[in-house]
Amino acid sequence: MCEEINWLEKIKETAEFLRQRVGGDMPKTAIILGSGLGDLAKQIEIDVAIPYGEIPNFPVSTVEGHQGRLIFGKLGKKYIMAMQGRFHYYEGYSMKKSTFPVRVMKELGIKTLFVSNAAGGMNPEFKVGDLMIITDHINLFPEHPLRGKNYNELGPRFPAMNEAYSRRLIEKAREIAKANNIRLVEGVYVGTQGPTFETPSEYRMFYRIGGDAVGMSTVPEVIVARHGDMEVFGMSVITDLGGEGIYVEVSHEEVQEAAAKAEPIMSFVMKEIINQSEDL
Ligand code: HPA
Repeated sequence: MCEEINWLEKIKETAEFLRQRVGGDMPKTAIILGSGLGDLAKQIEIDVAIPYGEIPNFPVSTVEGHQGRLIFGKLGKKYIMAMQGRFHYYEGYSMKKSTFPVRVMKELGIKTLFVSNAAGGMNPEFKVGDLMIITDHINLFPEHPLRGKNYNELGPRFPAMNEAYSRRLIEKAREIAKANNIRLVEGVYVGTQGPTFETPSEYRMFYRIGGDAVGMSTVPEVIVARHGDMEVFGMSVITDLGGEGIYVEVSHEEVQEAAAKAEPIMSFVMKEIINQSEDL
């Protein structure tokens, strides 16, 4: 076993740094903003914004379209914390490193985590620009974020994943969509390592095994959040389609463009869930 790094110490050190920088009370809710979805940040009345490069033990984000900063501020009437840009496994970080910010959130007292991403749709009912409530996921990453020594202080050795995504928050999202005439689809997110987009056969396989959309993020963060008993809500913007008989080329630019179009609606739904829920 190689476990030279004392993660508990690192988590505490980073949390302490953030407490000092932010001063005052910590939020109870955090949001991770995915590819091309950093714009929700514009709706936040920013109190403190810290570039990842200044945060001890944080990796530095390298992907185009990710600004890479941690924001503390108000979204509507609620004080929240937001990660503008995340750390993908395909960038070369270990699973422990790429999910480290979620551990720090837990240490800071975050109870609920909102996650967003851009994803390719396999479900034939889906259209480009659709917003999908993530009802569940399938983990196809080649490495598990909980592999190795388990720190009982952080969570149990064998955490349940029967309700990875909060039923009550999903229900809330449905109500908000209905009340505001917003089209939301629902489905299972398949998490793969990337960085290649899928072959037509891979899209077809993912659909056959029960997936509705596929992407290169989110699953590790959600596993770590659930390990720490945080409640999770997730949404995917369907930026492209793949599957049986679909042979179109996907580009990072197209993904960003489709994400930017759907983003205001996603921001609205997340903001409403947070503001309408007493405990968030
Ligand atoms: N596959 C994987 N990740 C993605 C896709 C996709 O089709 N679209 C946006 N992110």
